[in-house]
Amino acid sequence: FGSMATKIQRNPKFATINSDDIRYFTDLLGDKNVIQDEDALLAANMDWMRKYKGSSKLLLLPRSTEEVSQILKYCNSRCLAVVPQGGNTGLVGGSVPVFDEVIVNLGSMNKVLSFDEVSGILVSEAGCILESLVNFLDSKGFIMPLDLGAKGSCQIGGNVSTNAGGLRLLRYGSLHANVLGLEAVLANGDVLDMLGTLRKDNTGYDLKHLFIGSEGSLGIVTKVSILTPPKLSSVNVAFLACTDYLSCQKLLLEARRKLGEVLSAFEFLDEQAMDLALNHLEGVRNPLPALHKFYVLIETTGSDERSDREKLEAFLVHSMEEGLISDGVVAQDIQQASSVWNIREGIPEALMKAGAVYKYDLSIPVEKIYDIVEEMRNKLGHSARVVGYGHLGDGNLHLNISCPQYDDAVLAQIEPFVYEWTSKHRGSISAEHGLGLMKADKIFYSKSPAAVQLMASVKNLLDPNHILNPYKQLQELIEHNLMV
Ligand code: FAD
Ligand code: MLT
Ligand code: ZN
Repeated sequence: FGSMATKIQRNPKFATINSDDIRYFTDLLGDKNVIQDEDALLAANMDWMRKYKGSSKLLLLPRSTEEVSQILKYCNSRCLAVVPQGGNTGLVGGSVPVFDEVIVNLGSMNKVLSFDEVSGILVSEAGCILESLVNFLDSKGFIMPLDLGAKGSCQIGGNVSTNAGGLRLLRYGSLHANVLGLEAVLANGDVLDMLGTLRKDNTGYDLKHLFIGSEGSLGIVTKVSILTPPKLSSVNVAFLACTDYLSCQKLLLEARRKLGEVLSAFEFLDEQAMDLALNHLEGVRNPLPALHKFYVLIETTGSDERSDREKLEAFLVHSMEEGLISDGVVAQDIQQASSVWNIREGIPEALMKAGAVYKYDLSIPVEKIYDIVEEMRNKLGHSARVVGYGHLGDGNLHLNISCPQYDDAVLAQIEPFVYEWTSKHRGSISAEHGLGLMKADKIFYSKSPAAVQLMASVKNLLDPNHILNPYKQLQELIEHNLMV
């Protein structure tokens, strides 16, 4: 568990569920959407990593914004704590209860509401699974502006609430750029309709941004309007080997210059990440004949097959001549491309299969990214395996420390070192996964006291009883007057 989890106690101001509450919810939602069955609750209480486990006795499955509104209004009046939940793929313990909070899962709100084929604007309910939106758009000749390894389970509402980054951010930007509007239900049940479909709207504060990345702390996102790019006909994927990190860095600069507008992904993994993928993922094999220190996955997406391919080839030849890459392959068909992507996307699963894992998701200036991996390796010696991979094109390192089991002595070597190091280099302690429970008390490493104070004021304004996702983000700091 993260240090926060061991420190906190159930807040006695929150009520516990009683039979009147159950009757209210059953009348509102119907029997089958009020889940009290222990087995069914087990999955909803446990996060994807099986690291954080709550003890909620109640899972609610609303089917409409109105139902979400009634649920929150009631919970607020009873001071019942609530955890909004999407696909439960979050990696910081934010999507599961800490104690007995009511879980509100959006999975039954999974309809596409409209799609404008001229502008590419998709409006959907928050519970749509990312992959089902991908499939829907594919049939219309469009793609989602975000893609991530958890696409088969994560929901668009969860993506928006975590401001998920993923594998395409380099090309299409973050959800702050692509979400055009949203609908959210506040803690008191008020429905905030900000479901605009306009690219431009400068009529005062753009409040939707408060909800993008707010990790369920300000309201429940119920609908989303999102700008989707057209699906382009020519996609190429190259898997390249580099002998050192400096070459990966130079390759990124070269890719930006030479591939320019067709560059759509630039991901990297080190030899430890590759080793895990090869040993723990079914059907994964190294596309290169030998093992290397670093690997870079480059994807180009464009509209002219011949010229895109020529561009990629010229870039590869030049990079070989400059000694930046020591080997590499270009996928010849969709199967080869997806098997290369499977290596990169499969690393989180491989890490899970390898044992216990401490995950850090850092934004660091690109030239410094690998220093922390090496420093950590020197610090930990043989007691753990230090793995580096991530979205190099975005300056986002996934630093993972893999051990046979969770071990406080190892954790004490990692933290607070990793946060102090990141803060010293003016990085962020959460590039894309969020703070959740894991980093609830770590916000000051990346935000100024004045900024945190303003965040606390926003929280107090929108959720004065603090019923939404308690114990996470900065909420414990507010509750216990730990603001500096
Ligand atoms: P959940 O895990 O259910 O919830 C996440 C947070 O959002 C919680 O705080 C929850 O309370 C809140 N929440 C969920 N739904 C709502 C809602 N409707 N309204 C208000 N709050 C809500 N993340 C990245 O950024 N980039 C990646 O590349 C990436 N790859 C991943 C790969 C794997 C294999 C896995 C397991 C995870 C990955 N993640 C990645 C992390 C995770 O998938 C994302 O954070 C995702 O956006 C979470 O969506 P979800 O629906 O599963 O949300
Ligand atoms: C990824 O990029 O693979 C995800 O963010 C998940 C992870 O960090 O393990
Ligand atoms: Zn990631």
